[in-house]
Amino acid sequence: MPATPENIASAADCLGHGNLVAFPTETVYGLGADATSDRAVARIFEAKGRPSFNPLIIHVEDLAAARVLGSFDAAAERLAQAFWPGPLTLVVPRAPGCPISALASAGLDTIALRVPAHETAQALLRACGRPLAAPSANRSGSISPTLAAHVAASLGDRVDRILDAGATGIGLESTIIACLGSAPTLLRPGGLAREAIERCLEGRLADCAADPDRPTAPGQLLSHYAPRAALRLNVTAPAPGEAYLAFGPAAPHDGPMRNLSPGGDLIEAAANLFRLLHELDAEAVSRSSTIAAAPVPHHGLGEAINDRLARAAAPR
Ligand code: TXA
Ligand code: MG
Repeated sequence: MPATPENIASAADCLGHGNLVAFPTETVYGLGADATSDRAVARIFEAKGRPSFNPLIIHVEDLAAARVLGSFDAAAERLAQAFWPGPLTLVVPRAPGCPISALASAGLDTIALRVPAHETAQALLRACGRPLAAPSANRSGSISPTLAAHVAASLGDRVDRILDAGATGIGLESTIIACLGSAPTLLRPGGLAREAIERCLEGRLADCAADPDRPTAPGQLLSHYAPRAALRLNVTAPAPGEAYLAFGPAAPHDGPMRNLSPGGDLIEAAANLFRLLHELDAEAVSRSSTIAAAPVPHHGLGEAINDRLARAAAPR
């Protein structure tokens, strides 16, 4: 539907009810959901068919809204003042009390923030009055959409609304810079040139690709969420006292227990995964026990859930 004021207002309403709306930004079309809702964010992963949970970029209307969600050091402030709104994403520490879904930042204590310049994106953010998680609006593994027709062809009826404002201007995703206390680091080259960023910072950007100790692909750079307690997988009979992450109907258990989805719904399980793991980890650490996770079916979002559980259980 064309990005008229009426359609933007009804798309905002749709987002407020936990649904998915594809919208144009100056880089590519994004697949948006209420970033404060684990359940809405889980629907993004389901619609994209991603085999794992990457942390998503959180879109906000301006720097003031971004400061509520993340902690900006001097470099982050400078970059935000210079380039927002625009094709730049800043990865910063999550602010205390940050209300963003743990699933949206894949359980990490950092957050990727961006203020898009596109007038439709701006109007939608103002109309719905909440931050929007939005990866590119395409199925996992296919190319990023620069036209509403690309979104429709890739996602079909997996997306509830598509706001059409014609071709996106830049056609390449935003540049991602991490500002996490040490030197600002380029995580993903994109629509804002490195040279412009380096001029602003009056110095070279650290480059994750130039450091042999660090992997090159942005997804790999993330330190994946790892609980402090050891985690065992595919456990149907947890030991007494062990912290148990159940899935589906579960027998009573002598110890802390959380259920990803008592009814066996994988979307609900994805929405709950990181929050419940954090809760069980705190309980397991306080009683020096391990965490046991029930088997999760390996279809739909189950594949991504099992990917994250396997990483969390990996020896370290
Ligand atoms: O241009 C864009 O940035 C588009 C439009 C729609 O805004 N969005 C986009 O989002 O490309 P997405 O979700 O595909 O990009 C997510 C990437 C991750 O793959 C990861 O590289 C990085 O952002 N990222 C997100 N959160 C991060 C974090 N906490 N630490 C490091 N990298 C993070
Ligand atoms: Mg993408």
